Amino acid sequence: MKATAKAHTNIALIKYWGKRDESLILPMNNSLSLTLDGFYTTTTVEFKPDLTDDCFYLDDEAVVDTQYDRVSNFLKLIRNYAGKDNLFAEVHSTNHVPTAAGFASSASGFAALAAAAARALNLNIDDKTLSTLTRQGSGSACRSIYGGFVEWEKGEQADGSDSHAVPIAPANHWDIRVAAVVLSSNAKKVLSREGMKRTVETSPFYSSWVDSIPNDLNQIKDGIKNKDFEKVGAIAEMNCLKMHATTLAANPPFSYWHDTTMAVMHAVQELRESGISAYFTIDAGPNVKVLYLPGDENTLKQSLREIPGVHDVIVSKAGQGISYL
Ligand code: ADP
Ligand code: DP6
Ligand code: CO
Repeated sequence: MKATAKAHTNIALIKYWGKRDESLILPMNNSLSLTLDGFYTTTTVEFKPDLTDDCFYLDDEAVVDTQYDRVSNFLKLIRNYAGKDNLFAEVHSTNHVPTAAGFASSASGFAALAAAAARALNLNIDDKTLSTLTRQGSGSACRSIYGGFVEWEKGEQADGSDSHAVPIAPANHWDIRVAAVVLSSNAKKVLSREGMKRTVETSPFYSSWVDSIPNDLNQIKDGIKNKDFEKVGAIAEMNCLKMHATTLAANPPFSYWHDTTMAVMHAVQELRESGISAYFTIDAGPNVKVLYLPGDENTLKQSLREIPGVHDVIVSKAGQGISYL
């Protein structure tokens, strides 16, 4: 009753931002991401008959706060699915990604937890079912079950049974790269969950955001299929700016950006004017991810590192889906 799984994070090119059902984690809109090979989580789950509660260690430290509750609630769900309600687990997880800083640790974290827990319980489920379960740990995590380009279909059913990820194109379809520009690895003040809730409830821009998604998705899928980098990059950048615009109009208003976030955004736009094809996207955090093609890697890395306030630039290729160790 023990298993270890590895899952990569993913970067959303079309963002998931807002839930229609908070407890089942059902999104308002479809989203689309690229799984990244540079950032990942490994998690070991062992169910033990003598335990009277779950225990969770993250990066070798025992966790007891709301992070524990999220893990324990998820284990409850998966235990229930397996029909083993009274079986508790010891969980050890290692993040090879900063936690809660906008690098999608919740995506790799819950995908690895779900996969390890399902295997430890001997659940014989396909990836679609695993993605559906994983979604209930953290929405973005359902996309990390698969590698390459992945779409999360929001689904129509009230019970969430058709809300899961589907693979769009595998990692080897197209060598598109992502530079993670690290400004801060500190935990954000407004967690993704809280930020999107406030936006749905109070931002007057929110309905325009939702209305604009189907067209963005059609365009970007077409761009991915035809390996049209300018098209994919331009849509991803616009979609990111739209998402962040909704937060500025929330009540109380907030923004995930720091001064250096804006400096990096401007630098990317200037690089583009000088002939380097690069586009940015930003999740719920201050750090910027820059999309580019392999030939521009050295120039781009060097230019980004020179920006004052940039601590590090970590490059990723397209990553694989879940694996078992
Ligand atoms: P991020 O940008 O890192 O995804 P979120 O606000 O979405 O930030 O989620 C951060 C939360 O994800 C953490 O506070 C914790 O509850 C959870 N999390 C992060 N890593 C793991 C992990 N390895 N295992 C379980 N939960 C994790
Ligand atoms: C901006 O999946 O972290 O990164 O479902 O509440 O756990 P919960 O939120 P989470 O939200 C991710 C938001 C985003 C966009 C994205 O990854 O699609
Ligand atoms: Co997250």
